Amino acid sequence: MHKTENSNQPVLYLAPLQGFTDFVYRKVYSEVFQLVDAFFIPYISVKNHEVLKKYRKEILPENNPQNRVVPQVLAADPDEMVFLAEYLADFGYTEINLNLGCPYPMVTKRGMGAGLLPHPGKIEKILAAFFKESPLNLSVKMRAGLVLPAEMEKVIPVLNQFPLTEVILHPRIAKQLYEGEIIESVFQRAYSNLQHRLVYNGDVNTVETYSNILLKFQQTNHFMLGRGILMNPFLPAEIKGFVLGEAEKKEKLAEFHKRMLEEYLAVMDNPGNALNKMKQFWVYFCRNFSEPEKCLKKIEKSGTLTKYHIAVTTIFRDHFN
Ligand SMILES: Cc1cc2nc3c(=O)[nH]c(=O)nc-3n(C[C@H](O)[C@H](O)[C@H](O)COP(=O)(O)O)c2cc1C
Repeated sequence: MHKTENSNQPVLYLAPLQGFTDFVYRKVYSEVFQLVDAFFIPYISVKNHEVLKKYRKEILPENNPQNRVVPQVLAADPDEMVFLAEYLADFGYTEINLNLGCPYPMVTKRGMGAGLLPHPGKIEKILAAFFKESPLNLSVKMRAGLVLPAEMEKVIPVLNQFPLTEVILHPRIAKQLYEGEIIESVFQRAYSNLQHRLVYNGDVNTVETYSNILLKFQQTNHFMLGRGILMNPFLPAEIKGFVLGEAEKKEKLAEFHKRMLEEYLAVMDNPGNALNKMKQFWVYFCRNFSEPEKCLKKIEKSGTLTKYHIAVTTIFRDHFN
């Protein structure tokens, strides 16, 4: 791997993607590809005054050895926010992130995630309680709105009242889920009105998209990448101007895959569960190969680990360039 002349180094974050960027993924990814600057843990939340046991592994410091790891919370009210902040502070975290973007009705109907965006007053109460009670640093990850992009206009003045570390904006409304047009005017508005550092998130899947955004929003230096990294783990290296040869790429992909499988086999209850996790991993990982849909089908059809190994060997042999 060698560096090109482009020395304009952006700061790149790995987005939280529930079910994909779990502690295994974050750990293996950071060991094999070193160019992500911060890792966000998919959200945790409270149920019946407790944090569900399933979230513990995600949070444990030994599972999060990277330099900057930021856990994310979903909170419906000030009590939940303060509870979650204390829970995370007990694990030694110094920085957390509040989710104001999750679009799923199960979450938004409970007044969390993007469900808070039409209610700036509630957001204000949550933030006021947090900054009164917690010594932690806080950032916010948000969409433009639940139903209308204009919702953001009333949220920004609230965010400006508090000493947030930064605001990560995915310029879509919740109704769009993860597809459809990115609303660039929303990012522009936030850029003009927000007094915090603004981080761009959404559909940065190629160096070209990254460069286009940079052209439009020249002061933006912080980007959060999600599916782009899942589809192409070299994306941060490419954005930062590193050039890799095809042989080196193939070797790294093979190492990444091997380590992912080893780790899932080590941490899951049984090999079947590890196999299922790997099948999920391939939903995006297949994009590194020619005829990705065909590759994914081969993986999904593998009923046993032995068949899976055969499928993987065939794909690396026949579908990498
Ligand atoms: C399967 C899936 C799970 C996600 N889970 C979370 C999550 O736990 N917290 C969060 O803030 N965003 C979550 N997101 C949104 C991503 O973090 C990101 O904002 C979105 O995918 C847009 O960025 P991208 O186009 O770079 O992927 C999720 C998205 C997907 C597709």
